[in-house]
Amino acid sequence: MKNENLHAADVGPNTQLIRAGYNPFDYHGFINPPAVHASTVLFPDAQTMETHGQKYTYGTRGTPTTDALCSAINELEGAAGTILVPSGLAAVTVAFLAYLSPGDHALVVDSVYGNVREFCDTMLTRFGVEVDYYDPSGGAAIEALFRPNTRLLHIEAAGSNTFEMQDIPTLVAIAHRHEAVVTMDNTWATPLYFRPLDFGVDVSIQASTKYPAGHADILMGSVSANVKYWDRLRKTNGQLGLCGTADDAYQVLRGLRTMGIRLERHQRSALAIAEWLEARDDVARVLHPALPSFAGHELWKRDFKGASGVFSFVLTVGRREDFRLKAAAFLNGLQLFGLGYSWGGFISLALAVNLDDRRILQPPEEGPLLRLQIGLEDVADIRADLERGFEAAMRA
Ligand SMILES: Cc1ncc(COP(=O)(O)O)c(C=O)c1O
Repeated sequence: MKNENLHAADVGPNTQLIRAGYNPFDYHGFINPPAVHASTVLFPDAQTMETHGQKYTYGTRGTPTTDALCSAINELEGAAGTILVPSGLAAVTVAFLAYLSPGDHALVVDSVYGNVREFCDTMLTRFGVEVDYYDPSGGAAIEALFRPNTRLLHIEAAGSNTFEMQDIPTLVAIAHRHEAVVTMDNTWATPLYFRPLDFGVDVSIQASTKYPAGHADILMGSVSANVKYWDRLRKTNGQLGLCGTADDAYQVLRGLRTMGIRLERHQRSALAIAEWLEARDDVARVLHPALPSFAGHELWKRDFKGASGVFSFVLTVGRREDFRLKAAAFLNGLQLFGLGYSWGGFISLALAVNLDDRRILQPPEEGPLLRLQIGLEDVADIRADLERGFEAAMRA
């Protein structure tokens, strides 16, 4: 049969994205898999029912549609197994619930996605798990934070909103010496630009909501584990009763097919805008890992294959009491950029970053921090819109 003799290792990343997870000849040659809506699955007889002796048993335990997406993600991540959950936030919280127990201690990067910090400081604390936040730029200094009961190290790189890079191989080596599982939120890079499991990370997490879905209309998360940690993850997901829906899984798989070319465009446009911003007097600093001026640039160059389309910059303002007013004027001056949360979709978005929850990292002193998600619009139009923002901020 066609397709069967080509192996993922033999083809380029875009070819892999086109083919991953599903063979059209498994379903009459249709290029996309069917969107199977299911709770009940019928068994042909009592014996098969009793032994669960068939591939599919119930909707929460997977369908041909969710399987197609999970296999595609397994291929991209090099994982032993992948679960789907209803959001990127759930992907992180389920991973933590899978590997942590009362009395355990976890180390979480200080530049973690804010809602994960909220989960740690409320629910994990209530369940008797202690969390310490570590400095993303500390490297080997993290060793001093390990305790005999440290069971999990959570990395996010680039860090949320401030985009810090981390020395991932060093962190992994230390965590494994202490027998802690290493989880990583790799949403920013996607497995196209960084494959966590290849660097020794045990569990790779994606908010599929962002680049995999790509169209600002789907919420989904995926968690992919290596052989050692897969069974625990699979069982936890079954115990919690979480699953991805047929339509969302279908759309995320559809999004994956074009993710490579979308990312190339996001990357190119974002870097062009970042370089343009860096040259301006009204910009104090640009926080983008692919810029040589960025503190984590060398780590990014060493380990990552690319940069995606979201980064931040510091507007030059001066007086701290003007930060909020100037940031709001900038955002209100934009016409093309939407003001909204999330990123990874086709539309450009902007927001003012609030760093009040950070324990270690200090907010910039030169002015407010603004985050841009550079969409698929034409760069000249994006630049013209940002000019409108700068003019509005200057007038305010
Ligand atoms: C790095 C990162 N991880 C996870 C999430 C959560 O994803 P979701 O919006 O699907 O819950 C976000 C959302 O912005 C994020 O930026």
